[in-house]
Amino acid sequence: MKINKNYQNIEETYLFSEVAERVRKFMAQDGSASLIKMGIGDVTRPLCKSAVDALIKASEEMGTESGFHGYGPEQGYEFLRDTIADYYQETSGVKLFSDEIFVSDGAKSDLGNILDIFDQDNIVAVTDPVYPVYVDTNVMAGRKIVKLTATADNDFLPMPYPGLQADIIYLCSPNNPTGAAYDRTRLEQWVKFANANGSVILFDAAYESFISDPEVPRSIYEIEGARSCAIEFCSLSKTAGFTGTRCGYTIVPGGLVRDGIQLRKMWLRRQTTKFNGVAYPVQKAAAACLKDQGLAEIRENIAYYKENARIIADTFTELKWPFTGGVNSPYIWVRCPKSMKSWAFFDELLAKANVICTPGSGFGECGEGYVRFTSFNTRDNTIEAMRRIKELYSEG
Ligand code: MLT
Repeated sequence: MKINKNYQNIEETYLFSEVAERVRKFMAQDGSASLIKMGIGDVTRPLCKSAVDALIKASEEMGTESGFHGYGPEQGYEFLRDTIADYYQETSGVKLFSDEIFVSDGAKSDLGNILDIFDQDNIVAVTDPVYPVYVDTNVMAGRKIVKLTATADNDFLPMPYPGLQADIIYLCSPNNPTGAAYDRTRLEQWVKFANANGSVILFDAAYESFISDPEVPRSIYEIEGARSCAIEFCSLSKTAGFTGTRCGYTIVPGGLVRDGIQLRKMWLRRQTTKFNGVAYPVQKAAAACLKDQGLAEIRENIAYYKENARIIADTFTELKWPFTGGVNSPYIWVRCPKSMKSWAFFDELLAKANVICTPGSGFGECGEGYVRFTSFNTRDNTIEAMRRIKELYSEG
């Protein structure tokens, strides 16, 4: 018996587990502190009424002879896949075919699981800073990783360069953690690169619903040529508050073929073997959120978080702390004051303001000296956190 030794090459704990551990230790010493969480991107708004109604109705159906559902269709129920296709058409003008859509329990699982269909001998490109899941899942599999530097000099949006060797390219736009988003022109260059090199782009669109700039594509398939080089991952976690309900979807276009094989067919084969689908009531709730009244309700929640993001961004503007994000994204990526390192600032903010952020260095070397704030807390807590930060760091 041999263990997978690649696990020795990943960080001992997942970033958000380390944050939670430090907070736990702090609370053990000072249990009375009134903490405000702006660390992990977990939502606070309750599920919208349409989602709750659909969950109740579908659960009741499950308790009847005629409405009971056992195993569902492997790619997800047709009613949800059709709704997702309509949602794409409405928000991005993109036409998807039902058999290209795969319903799952969230983007994080699919982003890790998709690697099953690729050989180990592929070079993987990720941005730095980066959502740790892309790196850790590839290190677990022993793949070689190239880092694309995202700094203020390139607006935190790395681009392909001559000589870049990358078979699998992860792009997340709007980005986690920086909040920066690729515009059409920049995304076109990535699609061109991938098609010219036979690479596959794994496009994480988990934050697409926060985009308000018409120049920023909500789906990579808005770019010509993307259907032959990109797989897109999306989730209802941030869009509809499903972090605890769990539902996402992955798009593998029919036109994406490598070594003469449709990747859609490989992913279908993988999913039918290793995945048994998402609960019927959850799929009903997801469908309710992506159309009609439900869509209006989730958009209200998104607007609420976007206003929080504005409040956070305004605070950093006032403090003259350089930052990015917060416009097309729920994340604000800010330079630590007084040239502090990420974890030092995290600890100081926790101890003195009882505010939790995420240390930028946890997202990669280029994140050192930055921290990330989320706009997913309540309005009152967001205002209070910013008041505490201003009180601590305003000069004079
Ligand atoms: C984050 O805070 O980066 C996200 O919530 C993590 C996730 O979506 O898994």
